[in-house]
Amino acid sequence: MHKTYEVIAFGQAARVDWLTLRCVALWWTIRQRSKAHPMTETLAAGSSTGTEEVPAIRLRKLTKVFGDTVAVNGVDLDIRHGEFFSMLGPSGSGKTTVLRLIAGFELPTSGSIELDGKDVTAMAPFQRDVNTVFQDYALFPHMSLVDNVAYGLRVRGMPGSQRRQRAREALDRVQLGKFLGRKPAQLSGGQRQRVALARALVVEPKVLLLDEPLGALDLKLRQQMQVELKELQRSLGITFIFVTHDQEEALTMSDRIGVFNNGSIEQIGTAHEIYERPGGIFVATFVGTSNIFDAAQAQAVYGRPDPFCIRPERLRVAWTGKPEHRSGTTSRPGTVTSFVYVGHATQVRVQLDGGPAVVALVPEKLPGSDAELVNGPVTVSWDDDAVVWLPASGSHTDSPQTDSPQIER
Ligand SMILES: Nc1ncnc2c1ncn2[C@@H]1O[C@H](COP(=O)(O)OP(=O)(O)OP(=O)(O)O)[C@@H](O)[C@H]1O
Ligand SMILES: [Mg+2]
Repeated sequence: MHKTYEVIAFGQAARVDWLTLRCVALWWTIRQRSKAHPMTETLAAGSSTGTEEVPAIRLRKLTKVFGDTVAVNGVDLDIRHGEFFSMLGPSGSGKTTVLRLIAGFELPTSGSIELDGKDVTAMAPFQRDVNTVFQDYALFPHMSLVDNVAYGLRVRGMPGSQRRQRAREALDRVQLGKFLGRKPAQLSGGQRQRVALARALVVEPKVLLLDEPLGALDLKLRQQMQVELKELQRSLGITFIFVTHDQEEALTMSDRIGVFNNGSIEQIGTAHEIYERPGGIFVATFVGTSNIFDAAQAQAVYGRPDPFCIRPERLRVAWTGKPEHRSGTTSRPGTVTSFVYVGHATQVRVQLDGGPAVVALVPEKLPGSDAELVNGPVTVSWDDDAVVWLPASGSHTDSPQTDSPQIER
């Protein structure tokens, strides 16, 4: 017979067995954790409570210079508790260096780093409650997978059977439960990356730094892991800083995104803000496809000498060549140069007369074959409120603009 325990709950004494006791303890732990990360739910919805809580991570004027390379250039950033924050940017823009500075593997040239309100700028990596999944995995080659994953728990003094059990569960979570005894060299690149993920997650750190953790996976596994990672992050309430080159990955997974360029953050915002209201030419061209009108072209269209951009899905193509006469719309004549079929729609490239070459995404069936339509005259139209005016350089702000653009005519 199972041993039972006397407990007092809601003023009543009761006898419960061991399993019931564990279930209640688990429920209590989860409840406490969700209390500790009250931002998780609201941030996942892309909103903000507006309260002034101490951020999980605060970077102030963070700068790192290697010889004559300024890898990180005065970065200011607050990341909230339980937030899924992505750093998106081209190769060499400083993403990994920022992660290494947060983890303590590099010391900044100047600036400061706070974790949960505490200045850790000069602290050693092991004194910071963060864990990292590195771009190059950094697994122990002589250890089995289960020992690799259990290593962090061993360092923390967890007993052998318990840590092996936790390591097995973590490996199951990344679908490697059947390879427990293998060494890293006996795995594919993608499998090694998943071991690195399991090893970082098993210790349930407050902050997890992930440097391109899905980079080596094939598309299907990558998409599956994106969903699982996001789900894990939500359920555990861990703050994730996720580095990626892949804009689609950043747009679909993140509460907020910081777009890096040349060691600086060009813009911080939700996926919607970054995509719909890019803060400068760099963000407009790096995230998604944009049609950019330079200052001279903008002057010709709107009489205003500031560059602007418009997304391909906001353009309409009239095959008859007739302009739209509705107020609040603008039409320009042009010539079709090519088509690219993208499954759900067709990208139609049009050279506007006196304007830039633009791409329009046309969801409906085209009224003729390529041969009939290429070189044909068309009119491209758009709603004026779809235009985004661009400052010449990026506008890094923690509260991105949300106003509709004002169009002066
Ligand atoms: N230890 C180092 N010594 C000298 N230069 C370095 C060092 N580490 C990084 N750099 C330079 O700093 C810049 C930023 O590098 P970083 O690795 O942070 O870029 P990244 O955005 O992570 O790029 P990728 O997407 O290719 O991983 C690059 O120009 C790089 O060459
Ligand atoms: Mg990198």
